Amino acid sequence: MKPPLLASSVLRKARIFPYLVTLLSFIVFVAVLYGEDFICLFSQPLQLGSYRYQPSTRTEKKWKKLPFALGKTEEGCDVFSGRWVLDESTRPLYQESECPYIQPQLTCQEHGRPQKDYQYWRWQPHDCSLPSFNATLMLETLRGKRMMFVGDSLNRGQYVSFVCLLHSIIPKGAKSMETFDSLTVFTAKDYNTTIEFYWAPFLLESNSDNAVVHRISDRIVKKGSINKHGRHWKGADILVFNTYLWWMTGLKMKILLGSFDDEVKDIVEVSTEDAYRMAMKSMLRWVRKNMNPKKTRVFFTSMSPSHAKSIDWGGEPGLNCYNETTLIEDPNYWGSDCRRSIMQVIGEVFDKSKFPITFLNITQLSSYRKDAHTSIYKKQWSPLTPEQLANPVSYADCVHWCLPGLQDTWNELLFAKLFYP
Ligand SMILES: *[C@@H]1O[C@H](CO)[C@@H](O)[C@H](O)[C@H]1NC(C)=O
Ligand SMILES: *[C@@H]1O[C@H](CO)[C@@H](O)[C@H](O)[C@H]1NC(C)=O
Ligand SMILES: *[C@@H]1O[C@H](CO)[C@@H](O)[C@H](O)[C@H]1NC(C)=O
Ligand SMILES: *[C@@H]1O[C@H](CO)[C@@H](O)[C@H](O)[C@H]1NC(C)=O
Repeated sequence: MKPPLLASSVLRKARIFPYLVTLLSFIVFVAVLYGEDFICLFSQPLQLGSYRYQPSTRTEKKWKKLPFALGKTEEGCDVFSGRWVLDESTRPLYQESECPYIQPQLTCQEHGRPQKDYQYWRWQPHDCSLPSFNATLMLETLRGKRMMFVGDSLNRGQYVSFVCLLHSIIPKGAKSMETFDSLTVFTAKDYNTTIEFYWAPFLLESNSDNAVVHRISDRIVKKGSINKHGRHWKGADILVFNTYLWWMTGLKMKILLGSFDDEVKDIVEVSTEDAYRMAMKSMLRWVRKNMNPKKTRVFFTSMSPSHAKSIDWGGEPGLNCYNETTLIEDPNYWGSDCRRSIMQVIGEVFDKSKFPITFLNITQLSSYRKDAHTSIYKKQWSPLTPEQLANPVSYADCVHWCLPGLQDTWNELLFAKLFYP
């Protein structure tokens, strides 16, 4: 990688950005390959039975009328509980080639994916139907407003999907997307609307905030530092957070108590769960202080599952999502157990929330989608070696998702929960 990011012009940054995204994708990829295994093997004191937490709607029910709500989801319908149905008549919701905002790490068709099956699945909740994503309604609602996604590369994928779902009703010349360091801004001029993405993989300040100068294995998060990034989120009318993958470094997480500038850094090591709990609490505190529950909404997207080990779904050992074109059919499939303890932390913290956070519980429904990852059909970070080329499993990305694809469903759920909580 080149040194930059000190580059002065926005244009230059815009050109560098895709590389940074690739670099980060690669790091996350490495982290998952080597990190998740580790934590799954060693940090599971939880018994399987102990995880049956249902915080998803509890926090919202305490509030009668949420901003933006037009109605209610049918009583007793959990939109996150359902099944995938093949629906070639209504999917995909847009074409890969018609959405210029998809980064080349997610354009699977352009990078040679031989089939499109992954684009035709529609999520069908068991007990009700999802409302159709109405781009006109969404844009009218956002008129004069600011919507922001905050988190890591997976949230960036959801952000891009969201923009793809509505950009086609805006004429050329009345819309733009620009990137300034950590911030990407999509502007719909005639609506006086911006839809933004802010890079903060831990939400808190960390040594991974700069896309170029970072460490792979030695991640450090600064305690109580949410305002470092949070000051850029102020004034948002709708916020969509995520954070998960970057915490998966192993058993312990390094927490900085002082400043990153201290010569001798004051660092403690705590369990991943405790570190994650600290971040969730910081996020909630920030939300309570800076967001107005009568006018604004806050969403939190749960952990995006990866498919790095085929043995998880009963496949041959040593393989991963590469070549997978079918869904996992076992409705009880969950994947690596390490997600459970984090889900539990989220549940515990959100249950006590004094602000109505809308929880997008996409983990289970996404875990069936081993077919939906970008795999080898993406722009590569660096040229592949002959050894890699001879063994595609070795470089398949089983973390990120092709667009159009699974993440459009996350946004249909976001749409459903925004207007029909
Ligand atoms: C998320 O949804 C799945 C599937 O409906 C459910 O089993 C799980 O308990 C939910 N998790 C939370 C934290 O609500
Ligand atoms: C989409 O929303 C707009 C604005 O509320 C409404 O006029 C239109 O009928 C909706 N379209 C569909 C297909 O529901
Ligand atoms: C545009 O929206 C911002 C809030 O995002 C508001 O402060 C401003 O007054 C709006 N401008 C116009 C011309 O409506
Ligand atoms: C992937 O699928 C192709 C075509 O079906 C097959 O030839 C190849 O052996 C598969 N590779 C792996 C690693 O399963």
